[in-house]
Amino acid sequence: MTFEEMRLSQAELTKTLVGKITRKMPHSLANAANSDFIPYTVRDGKWAPAYPEDRGSISWWTNGFWPGMMWEMFLLTGDEAYRAEAERSEKMLDEALYNIDVLHHDVGFMWHISAGVNYRLTGSDESRKRALLAANLLAGRFNPLGFIRAWNGDRVGWAIIDTMMNLNILYWASDLTGDPRFRKIAMIHADTAMKHFVREDGSCNHIVIFDPETMAFVDNPAGQGFASGSSWSRGQAWALYGFTLSWIHTGRQDYLDTARKVAKYFVSQIQDDWIPRIDFRQPADVDLKDACAGAIAACGLIELGRQVEGEEAKFFFDAGVNIIRAMAENAADWRDEYPAILTKCSSAYHNGDHHIAMNYADFFFIEAVRKLNGDSFLFW
Ligand code: GLY
Repeated sequence: MTFEEMRLSQAELTKTLVGKITRKMPHSLANAANSDFIPYTVRDGKWAPAYPEDRGSISWWTNGFWPGMMWEMFLLTGDEAYRAEAERSEKMLDEALYNIDVLHHDVGFMWHISAGVNYRLTGSDESRKRALLAANLLAGRFNPLGFIRAWNGDRVGWAIIDTMMNLNILYWASDLTGDPRFRKIAMIHADTAMKHFVREDGSCNHIVIFDPETMAFVDNPAGQGFASGSSWSRGQAWALYGFTLSWIHTGRQDYLDTARKVAKYFVSQIQDDWIPRIDFRQPADVDLKDACAGAIAACGLIELGRQVEGEEAKFFFDAGVNIIRAMAENAADWRDEYPAILTKCSSAYHNGDHHIAMNYADFFFIEAVRKLNGDSFLFW
């Protein structure tokens, strides 16, 4: 089966979901109308920022997903209201972009799918400059021993699997400028992730701490997962989609093979109800889920289904569809008055933010449905 045939085999599901999303999202947008924060989660039935006490902390790493989601909706519907909100919220992020003290490796998440997509769709020169500056900031976090530093303060040698998704802004910057430095940095980091993060069985570490002077291994703490050596499902999803995208941007076979390995492991862990636990190695009697991991993984699996052939392509594609269907039925709130779509998202295993809404979960859910709908524009 070709990708197109697989896609058309799910036409009914896609039509239903496009209908549900396009009916709900105008209400979601109205709920956020002209807010002076970027919507992150839902509190008291309304969109709310990540940190209300700090105007939503404009540098919060998920803030690019709101304008990104607006662009997803613009592509899905052609409705200019989404484009206007994407452009308005992109400008709000300038307060963070020009304040290096508050920035981190997630400048890729923040500007690649906001300003970067704006530039690629509209040619906006202002947006091009924002995205290129973000790429330079990310490149500036590179330790030439072989990794991109994730966070600030004394975490000098900390690298995390999530960075695999931020590499895409570097691939784009090299394509744009003709300067290979950005792509080389991305590939060196991806090589390190392959070697030090992805395990033999396809599971991954969330964090690896290196000695920043020698790159000797220091530790691999639990991070947002259950424990050191466990398997935080969202980290596995970042690796799945991240290596798939690194393959797309570089043509490197080992990135594709790594994506396959992580994807097969991921699918082996979710076949009971297709909604990932927060950590695939959390205690068996803990029923905590992270639908967000599922939405990210579904995008990666559907995209992988486009990259490989035959039975393997169908295996990945069907798994992505099963996740999306399960989430639409069992982890979503389709009421007009509730602004987010997915509800069973968890920011980390050991904090209290369990089974909440998170803007990036909805971003990836909509992206997956847009892929199923036949739009191959790659945000990443
Ligand atoms: N640290 C990024 C995430 O929560 O997935």
